[in-house]
Amino acid sequence: MSQPSPAPQVQMLRRGKPRVSLRSVIFTFAMAFAIPVSSQTADQAWLRYGHAHGMPPVPLHIRALGSQPLEKTAVEELVRGIDRLFGSSPSIGGDDTESAIVVGTAEQMRSTYHDLNVPSTLAPEAFWIAESHPAGKRLVMIAGGTEQGVLYGAFALVRRLATSGWPPGTAITDHPALKIRWVDEWDNPDGTIERGYAGRSIFFENGNVRADLAPVAEYGRLLASVGINGLNVNNVNAAPQLIDSDHLHQLARIADTLRPWGVRLAMSAAIASPQTIGGLATYDPLDPAVKAWWAAKANDIYTLIPDFAGFTVKADSEGQPGPASFGRTPADAANTLAAALAPHGGVVLYRAFVYNHHLDWRNPKADRARAAYDIFHPLDGQFLPNVIVQTKEGPIDFQAREPVSPLFAGLEHTSQAMEVQITQEYTGQQRHLVYLAPMWKQVLDTDLRASNEPTPVNEILAGKFLSERQQRAGKPAPDDTSNRFVTGHDFSRAASRSKLDGALAPAELPLGGIIAVAGIGQDRWLGSPLALANLYAFGRLAWNPSLDPAEIAAEWTEQTIGVDPEVVHTVTAMLMQSWPAYEAYTGPLGLQTLTDITGSHYGPNIESSERNGWGQWHNADAQGVGKDRSVATGSGDAGQYPPEVAKLYEDAATTPDDLLLFFHHVPYSWRLHSGKTVIQYLYDSHYDGAAQAAHFLDEWATLKGRVDPALYEDVRARLEYQAGHAIVWRDAVVQYFLKLSGIPDEKGRAGHYPGRLEAEDARLTGYSVIDVTPWEDSSGGKAVSCPSAEFATSATGINLASMKGTGFSPYIQPIHPTGALAPEAMHPCTAEWTWSGVPGRYNIAVQYFDLQGGAAKFTLSVNSQPQATWQADANLPSKRPNGDNSTRHTIPNIALKPGDTIRVKGTPDGSDPAALDYIELTRIRDPGVVLSSH
Ligand code: GCU
Repeated sequence: MSQPSPAPQVQMLRRGKPRVSLRSVIFTFAMAFAIPVSSQTADQAWLRYGHAHGMPPVPLHIRALGSQPLEKTAVEELVRGIDRLFGSSPSIGGDDTESAIVVGTAEQMRSTYHDLNVPSTLAPEAFWIAESHPAGKRLVMIAGGTEQGVLYGAFALVRRLATSGWPPGTAITDHPALKIRWVDEWDNPDGTIERGYAGRSIFFENGNVRADLAPVAEYGRLLASVGINGLNVNNVNAAPQLIDSDHLHQLARIADTLRPWGVRLAMSAAIASPQTIGGLATYDPLDPAVKAWWAAKANDIYTLIPDFAGFTVKADSEGQPGPASFGRTPADAANTLAAALAPHGGVVLYRAFVYNHHLDWRNPKADRARAAYDIFHPLDGQFLPNVIVQTKEGPIDFQAREPVSPLFAGLEHTSQAMEVQITQEYTGQQRHLVYLAPMWKQVLDTDLRASNEPTPVNEILAGKFLSERQQRAGKPAPDDTSNRFVTGHDFSRAASRSKLDGALAPAELPLGGIIAVAGIGQDRWLGSPLALANLYAFGRLAWNPSLDPAEIAAEWTEQTIGVDPEVVHTVTAMLMQSWPAYEAYTGPLGLQTLTDITGSHYGPNIESSERNGWGQWHNADAQGVGKDRSVATGSGDAGQYPPEVAKLYEDAATTPDDLLLFFHHVPYSWRLHSGKTVIQYLYDSHYDGAAQAAHFLDEWATLKGRVDPALYEDVRARLEYQAGHAIVWRDAVVQYFLKLSGIPDEKGRAGHYPGRLEAEDARLTGYSVIDVTPWEDSSGGKAVSCPSAEFATSATGINLASMKGTGFSPYIQPIHPTGALAPEAMHPCTAEWTWSGVPGRYNIAVQYFDLQGGAAKFTLSVNSQPQATWQADANLPSKRPNGDNSTRHTIPNIALKPGDTIRVKGTPDGSDPAALDYIELTRIRDPGVVLSSH
């Protein structure tokens, strides 16, 4: 896009003033903050500033009233934004003789402009942007409660310029609803990321903090632009060594890199550290030596990182050690850490994700969903004030649909934070388009009716009820302008705080917030370009939970992809449809995940959650499905909610359809509020969801030529993959429940696949028939696989001898006596069918398994004429053929007549045996129209 010149009158205003060029500004700031240059930039996300047109609607001069680091960052961002958006670099100066954008704290603003009506009650992170015209000048003033607010105000102005513009006279006063707005990274010291789907860590490699932290600075900029003020840098399954002295020095570099963006560093602490790295005989949180160890550790940390935000703790959970080993409670552990941090202004985010993963699945009273409430509700009131209990949004684990955790209403005297996931662990791992803001919004808006009063979750997190209760109890109301634990830099108060014997004054409550597990990595932050909408939306909703997810999506699209209304409309619509679609083709009606729960958390594996202690049971049997969580006959989880909500969930007849199977075990013939039976809904939902996934491709296709070509192709390929994988999900769930229930699909689709030709029914040369595990992950439970010695020996470390009778047939031939692959091992195999259908043009979908460990090659031919050749080189979970890696490749518009031979040739590579499930032919009625892959 060509950049227009600044308006003539603005040029005139600038004439004659001392100028500072953009280049020198950036140089100055780069020197001041040692901002390194990165190939992974925030511009790849929403900070491109590339789309505005017209004249700059703000003065092209910036007057900075202060010189604190965050104020400098704010000025830098304004310069960068305006320059890129309008092609005119604002000058910077301290004089007040011309029109300007004036940047400073409210206090600086008041003392400089006595006559201006600067709000007197701006909270620390709040900002005020307004216009004034003293003596014929035009001033656009950005005032922050503190310098942090100044930075947020600068980003808010640039965002407006990049989207809706800045009509003269616009004024904004804004403040964050939640004080704690953090991202949690689950990065490990070796550079891997737990549940990360975007490459390796930007923070760590080979056991240490990376030398190159340039991407961290870019990430800080992205986070600050949407108001995120904290970053917990390491996996909650914490590597204890990160807290040793050497690593703390390294972590201080990360804190230094984030500081110019107002993002404070936090870290996950392993509760056993006093023993594992401290050399003590115990880590009992009530042991005086342990308490002293944590206090000393906190002193060390704050010496290196004076604005350290605090610890996140996962304990007594999924194998992590915890206070339970000593008969102590989470409150005991949390308070020991909190007391150590309190003198320095730090907080403890103690995770309520504490549960027993060795539950007895035969016991109807056993229920993982109950755990957080059962454990933490009795501790309400026992936590020190700088402890925040951090609870996942639902009682299980980031499923596409869960009820809101009852614990939010179960802690009346404790600060709370909600944990959500940006990284799409259970929602398609960034290979599927799933915009999560509508889900988060629904959770934030959920009214839990605590004490039979309106109690939306977002207000609980904001601490509204906590402060109301304190007031009722006669305690002073929280000081809303304090905020120093999270964002402030008021270390002068640390000393007086320490007099409180480690605890903080009640008046400083509440400290609630929202935290997202981000999972960003070196592959363009989140791997998938459209997944970045989730990171953006998280920050925006954390700042203001009343924002509309559709408006956030539109705002993100304008900044990231383009301002063309057609683009904004289409992308927004796709984003908004994506979560319901994913839920529909994976696990509707509150079934939660039907994925491989003990493995990848990605493809379908319906029975993997049953008959083990992990407690994500759906209890499907021949008669019905769903986990009975009623008080009357089930686990009693429904009774953990406040009375009005409990009553709703207790009875299957009043439970909302989308949570029915979470709370109740019902027969397949159960009629939903919609009038459909459960089984028919399952069929319909999976077909509708998969059709919607296919439709995304059609919607995106309308944007060809309207968006960047590389982005277009990247997203198109992802959507094509998703449409194919949605069919894998659909068919797995549908054929599973058809077989289990024995009830046919009244629309005749389940179990009937017109146009599908199974590989196991083909004339096979070289290929052998295999059983796929789980059976529902392939069409009819079978597939064919090409002998590959490497596959046979490498697939998940299989001991071939032990595989007899497992239902998984390896194809063990031919291994050369030397152990090397026999030459014939990598020979291609073929599957051939003779077409006997109607003559015409067809789309031919080839369903194959793209295994790890090699890039098998496939060729589709008709009458020996190759039509398409492609490689199975995607990076998908699992080394065995199953629903994780079942993939569809569609070759459009092939002419066929009866008697034609269709052949798929598969050439194995490495440990990928070119396994094939079926081909499916879809007739093109109108030869001019090439159907997409459904
Ligand atoms: C999920 C996830 C784990 C993670 C855990 C947690 O279970 O699969 O990888 O450690 O959540 O939140 O602690």
